[in-house]
Amino acid sequence: MGFRMAPSLLSSDFSRLRDEVQAIEAAGADLVHLDVMDNHYVPNLTIGPMICKAIRPHVRIPIDVHLMVRPVDALAVAFADAGADIISFHPEATDHVDRTLQVIRDKGCKAGLVLNPATPLAWLDHTLQDLDVVLLMSVNPGFGGQAFIPSALPKIRTVRALIDARRAAGGRDTWLEVDGGVKVDNIAEIAAAGADTFVAGSAVFGAPDADGGYRGVMQAFRAALGEARAKER
Ligand code: DX5
Ligand code: ZN
Repeated sequence: MGFRMAPSLLSSDFSRLRDEVQAIEAAGADLVHLDVMDNHYVPNLTIGPMICKAIRPHVRIPIDVHLMVRPVDALAVAFADAGADIISFHPEATDHVDRTLQVIRDKGCKAGLVLNPATPLAWLDHTLQDLDVVLLMSVNPGFGGQAFIPSALPKIRTVRALIDARRAAGGRDTWLEVDGGVKVDNIAEIAAAGADTFVAGSAVFGAPDADGGYRGVMQAFRAALGEARAKER
């Protein structure tokens, strides 16, 4: 299983966004994670599609948009038009989950569902076959720098089993992404539980190299993931 690192720009220096996205790409990031908050679905206000459009020409890696907004559909379209590659949303924030997934796919983007710590996995019963990404929150959405909630681990294991069973039956390879409180010292445990894609905000942007890059911390994450894989064997 390949592991993907998705640094979240939420903890970056917003006055230097171009440098920051280029620095994480140079450090080996697989995705750029954009946290979109609307001061309505979550108690914070962050970035809109114009920012996505502004950074798009400056990186080659996919832009992974995490919509914490209600309603979803119009903003999903706006982010797709602004160059997003992957768009994930919270199912309770839209009236018609299947329609919203369709809206995202019709724009040529990969589609994901995001489940909060207390959101039941029942949302996957009739959607998993259509999902490119399941994004499990390991903090309550709204802010960076919060502590990982341990009850996310059994949830990750359960979703891993669901994805593997569906894949064995010929279904798609849905990514299992985890978001919130991911650090160098807990990523191995999260990977061992079955996650393959890792969002990290404060852990990446809070640990710059002397030259302002992020190679050191990204290598530390990769090394921890390598150890997790070695233990699996
Ligand atoms: C929280 C966001 C996360 C957040 C992660 O609502 O979805 O992506 O930025 O930040 P850290 O890694 O600092 O927990
Ligand atoms: Zn996020």
